[in-house]
Amino acid sequence: MRGRGGVRDEILCSASDEHRIIICGAPASGKGTQCEQIVAKYGLTHISAGDLLRAETSAGTEIGLEAKGYMEVGGLVPDELVVKLVKARLSQPDCAKGWLLDGYPRSKAQADALKAAGIEPNVFLNLEVPDDAIVARVVGRRMDPETGKIYHMEFFPPPPEIVPRLTQRADDTEEACRNRLAQHAANVEAVLGSYPDMCVNIDGNRDKMDVFADVCKAIEA
Ligand code: AP5
Repeated sequence: MRGRGGVRDEILCSASDEHRIIICGAPASGKGTQCEQIVAKYGLTHISAGDLLRAETSAGTEIGLEAKGYMEVGGLVPDELVVKLVKARLSQPDCAKGWLLDGYPRSKAQADALKAAGIEPNVFLNLEVPDDAIVARVVGRRMDPETGKIYHMEFFPPPPEIVPRLTQRADDTEEACRNRLAQHAANVEAVLGSYPDMCVNIDGNRDKMDVFADVCKAIEA
């Protein structure tokens, strides 16, 4: 439904009886790791704001070129660019079976834009992880470009034979991570405040399967 846009598409998303989940948390709090498991179990459409932006930068689009500078230093991309991308993605037909929105909203303006479009989650998950643990996760993270799977050189070591092909994100440096943490700290209260009745705080500083058990409880509550 890309390109059609408009009110009808927004109703398509909001009218679904399926799960409509937002997952929020500091950089490297484990959102992507939990999303992989949520998608496998519940079959939802995963929409990562970071992945949407990285696709734009890789394709060299106007939005991508504008976003790139912000992303490399760990700043937030301007609201109007992100809102446009996320709303367009949510209006596609695969979202009618339920969706899992990862890393959006990150500001009150972004939350307000969803509401104004009639797009409401029915679960809001907030992963909580202390800053020190976050930095260790960021510097050890690697991605397999063939499968999209996320590893950690210490916490979730990849099979040795795929190590040479693993990639590291440009913003996975300690300096950029500190900026991302500062952005998160500046905005998180306003974002959580937009979903006061459905926010579930989850301790993300545990084994990923223990975190996932709590995630499932929240989704099925
Ligand atoms: P984005 O791609 O969304 O990055 P992020 O929020 O910084 O989150 P990450 O992808 O880094 O981490 P994650 O929480 O998914 O953790 P993961 O599971 O990989 O955004 C990138 C940039 O795009 C932003 O900085 C900004 O510039 C821009 N942007 C995106 N959305 C935007 C928006 N809405 N508005 C404006 N700008 C926006 O795990 C991390 C590591 O830890 C992995 O190695 C993993 O193996 C390991 N790990 C995971 N779980 C555990 C566990 N339980 N125990 C130990 N290790 C674990």
